[in-house]
Amino acid sequence: MGKLSVSFDGLELNNPIMTASGTYGYANEFDEFIDVSKLGAIVTKAISLYPRAGNKHIRITETEAGMINSIGLENVGIEKFIETKIPELKQNNINYIMNVAGSTIDEYVQVAKKCENEKIKAIELNVSCPNVKSGCLEFGTDENSLYELVSSVRAVYSGFLIIKLTPNVTSIEKLGIAAEKAGANAVSAINTLKGTSINIELINGKYKKTIVQGGYSGKGIKPVAINAISRLYKVINIPIIGIGGIETLDDVLEFFAAGAQAVQIGTSNFTHPNTAERLVEELDEYINKNGFKSLEELKKELRA
Ligand SMILES: Cc1cc2nc3c(=O)[nH]c(=O)nc-3n(C[C@H](O)[C@H](O)[C@H](O)COP(=O)(O)O)c2cc1C
Repeated sequence: MGKLSVSFDGLELNNPIMTASGTYGYANEFDEFIDVSKLGAIVTKAISLYPRAGNKHIRITETEAGMINSIGLENVGIEKFIETKIPELKQNNINYIMNVAGSTIDEYVQVAKKCENEKIKAIELNVSCPNVKSGCLEFGTDENSLYELVSSVRAVYSGFLIIKLTPNVTSIEKLGIAAEKAGANAVSAINTLKGTSINIELINGKYKKTIVQGGYSGKGIKPVAINAISRLYKVINIPIIGIGGIETLDDVLEFFAAGAQAVQIGTSNFTHPNTAERLVEELDEYINKNGFKSLEELKKELRA
């Protein structure tokens, strides 16, 4: 085990730096930029029971401090993922966590059963996508529905179960507690915030407005993520994986200080596909330069 390794109860990572769902493909799509096998793990795009075409209107727009996306969970579906993507992941020795989305409890459960059969060692339930008409976010905003969903998945899946929480709630603590009580092994936070951008152009004396509604991510959401993690850290005992606007090593340290055990990098991949790999190297250098014996020691100091 290296100095950077992370050992959760049921999941080992070589380092705490992962890429976030929806921003890094399914397998080795980023191979030409970095050696993906060096990352702690990649989290796949959300996979649902059946393939989804996603949304038709404008799907992505840049904002001052990040982006808004409205992809609508386009994905190949679980069967194709198992058939074509898992072999690629195995061949390239990539550690992965499969992100799961669904519209009903039964859909999540059916996908989780297939993950159990395929011995997929970790899944992350997306209960926090703001860009789809039904399901998903509905589970993530009500603690009773979340408890029912997580218990149902837990009953059929014995691997490492992560619940990805939304910041679009009044009390993220209640959702974290419900996930832990229902048998989750970890939570990840945060998914995107609800956002709207209106691009205004004046053409021949008339305003043309291009409106994009969806999930806001990137640098601008970092303080919201840090706030969510600090609050969760006070009330739950399972590990927290921090996500939201991470670009630099200082950002990573801030997440550790707030209580995150590991982190995921999302929007930054679109401008710098090597962010996660660079952060692994910088964290390694930082630990050695400052004489920490392990990542755990660094986290402890940051939280003291
Ligand atoms: C284009 C795009 C697609 C995303 N798709 C998913 C998804 O399929 N499942 C999911 O749980 N989160 C999805 N997310 C949310 C990210 O995984 C992450 O939680 C969020 O963007 C915050 O991190 P960031 O600020 O580093 O991007 C997506 C985000 C973006 C920008």
